[in-house]
Amino acid sequence: MLPSQRARFDIPSDIAWLNAAAWGPLPRAAVEAGRAGVARKAQPWRLPGDFAETQYARARAAAAALIGAAPADVAIIPSVGYGVSTAAKALDLPAGSRVLVLADDHSAPVLEWMSRAGTDGIAIDTVARPEDGDWTAAVLAAIARQPPTLASIASVHWSDGGALDLPRIVPALRDAGAALLVDATHAVGAGPMDVTALDPDFLVFPTYKWTLGPYGRAFLYVAPRRQGGVPLEQTAHGRRGVSAEHIPYLADTSYLPDARRFDMGERDHFVSLEMAAVGMELLAALGLGSVAERLAALTADLAEGLAGLGLGVPAAALRAPQILSVTIPGGTPAGFLARLEGQGVHVANRLGRIRISPHIYNDADDVARCVAAFRAALDAQGRR
Ligand SMILES: Cc1ncc(COP(=O)(O)O)c(C=O)c1O
Repeated sequence: MLPSQRARFDIPSDIAWLNAAAWGPLPRAAVEAGRAGVARKAQPWRLPGDFAETQYARARAAAAALIGAAPADVAIIPSVGYGVSTAAKALDLPAGSRVLVLADDHSAPVLEWMSRAGTDGIAIDTVARPEDGDWTAAVLAAIARQPPTLASIASVHWSDGGALDLPRIVPALRDAGAALLVDATHAVGAGPMDVTALDPDFLVFPTYKWTLGPYGRAFLYVAPRRQGGVPLEQTAHGRRGVSAEHIPYLADTSYLPDARRFDMGERDHFVSLEMAAVGMELLAALGLGSVAERLAALTADLAEGLAGLGLGVPAAALRAPQILSVTIPGGTPAGFLARLEGQGVHVANRLGRIRISPHIYNDADDVARCVAAFRAALDAQGRR
């Protein structure tokens, strides 16, 4: 199995950062890239003429490699919400459309449609949280009940770690003639993802969590059949012939033929672009199958240890291998996470669950530290 990659990060031995789903530490190599990038901005005259193009191409290729896409089908964007708004503008859903979302899904894949519901005459169908934790069955039942125009859903639910089995959901959507937007925030970088096999209309992910990168960088896959849409922002670089160096300036305002037309304005934030590329390249080099295997082993050990303390642990088959969201019978006592942090254990409180999300920098010592900290905190608060 892939060994712990902790040496690639600057994490003290008494810290168990089990919070990748919130935001992750940067690999040392990404920190170095950031430092070099800032220094470069201080002396722009040293940059080679093709520097910008090289940077876009590198980051785009690194993002595409993580999801099995062609680079030209991937746009450089700043956030997941930006990607969802881009998709919404490109789709331009007519009145009467129905958008399927998940109950308590993250705001990013949901709020765009809620805000359009009032103005554009679209209806939102919310899949209720399934009692048995089986999000896939719940989504399939919802599609059968009322075929949607679009499903705008996460592939892993951010709060409970529930996994949505997209290879089972996609055919049902296709039969219903529905489009699919995937918020793959908690999937890309934590395991294999293949848009060529899956064929979503849009798939979006940020870099600051599982792909070991900075804030302010995200990527949007746009299926070729959706690349004719109007971008969210009107940029010179999204057009075929708008150049500051040529007269006439607006020589050809037709859009680029592929997903690059959706690139954000000010994509030239080279500091973070290169940091993002470094994190993604590291994951690809390690192998996403190997990463997934390691994370599954870590959460399995955590599940065993925490179930032994009487906590509620979801069935492994229904959760993403990289996230373990546990419940304390009777609810999480006040101050519980602060007690864990006092022991160097960092996890997240998400909608009544304690979300534990390891990544490649975690090891067996972190698992042991985490279980011991839970035991001590439960004992201290009379909950065991
Ligand atoms: C499922 C999910 N989607 C999206 C985001 C972030 O969205 P944005 O990049 O728009 O801030 C998060 C952040 O926690 C998330 O958990």
